[in-house]
Amino acid sequence: MGDKRSQIIKELKDAQKSPVSGEELGLKLGISRTMVWKYIKALKTDGYEIGSFPKRGYVLKSVPQFLYPEEIQMGLKATLLGQKIHYFEEVNSTNSIAKEIAASEEEGTLVISEIQKGGRGRMGREWISPHGGIWMSVILKPGIPIRHASRLTLVAGLAVANAIRDLGLDARIKWPNDVCINGKKVCGILTEANAEMDRVDYVVLGIGINVNMDLTDIPESLRSGSTTLKVELGRHIKRVSFLQNFLFELEQQYINFKTRPFSHILNDWLALSDTIGRDVKVITPSRIIEGKAVGVTPDGALVIRKADDTREEIIAGRCIYARPK
Ligand code: BTN
Repeated sequence: MGDKRSQIIKELKDAQKSPVSGEELGLKLGISRTMVWKYIKALKTDGYEIGSFPKRGYVLKSVPQFLYPEEIQMGLKATLLGQKIHYFEEVNSTNSIAKEIAASEEEGTLVISEIQKGGRGRMGREWISPHGGIWMSVILKPGIPIRHASRLTLVAGLAVANAIRDLGLDARIKWPNDVCINGKKVCGILTEANAEMDRVDYVVLGIGINVNMDLTDIPESLRSGSTTLKVELGRHIKRVSFLQNFLFELEQQYINFKTRPFSHILNDWLALSDTIGRDVKVITPSRIIEGKAVGVTPDGALVIRKADDTREEIIAGRCIYARPK
């Protein structure tokens, strides 16, 4: 069903608002006019605005504002990421679904949902995921040692920051993996990996981007530290085009990750870091470390120079800036 449906959308789009008859569509797709009509009816139910003109045919007037796989895949420049997309209107967590299916899916498969009811953040926190955002998980099978899996979080953070910068916004990365605009968080990344012995079977990159939400869609307790692309740009964003660009960017970075020394990605990441050079306080489950952030190791650990001039590498924690830069 999916394939014919995509073909009908493509034919109608290519016709650029001139009518295409049911007969013509039927002949091109090798199906009856009645079947064409059934597909059109289903498309209308899904939010495609299609005019039917007796004796002339169908006209596509507008496409829905949903992240439908057909819309994402049409014109997608990425050739690995997004070849298969599991789309949902609502799930608990795209990461949980991606982990369930990862073993039997090809690398590059995506899980996307319009909303999440049990979105998960880092360190057991909740991730609020209302309509208007992009909540997705990418399944990767990089065949790397488990100790290098955290590098993919840096890869993803860099790709998100670059895709947002393409919109003309000054996106920066706050260690470990928050993408921020003017110091406010617009994206979070949750990387989960499964390994046999030392080798990674799969990595699920869970990416949550606040796109077309208003600040009132964000819980009050998080509002002052959060933002959305719509708020920053002062206009609605076309989520499908933004996502297509992001997937292409992520794919390029992933290819770099697999083919070039990691120092290339690390340098690009450092150039967009909002954290290096700042006085920070990092809160880990067991203690609080204070000092100046002076670097990031290839495995993503933050290097802190403490008051006694000793250095410490912290692999995970919550980072708070002591004062503005
Ligand atoms: C963070 O705490 O900053 C990470 C947030 C990660 C949220 C994304 S949204 C898509 C994917 N599914 C989840 O349940 N979480 C991640």
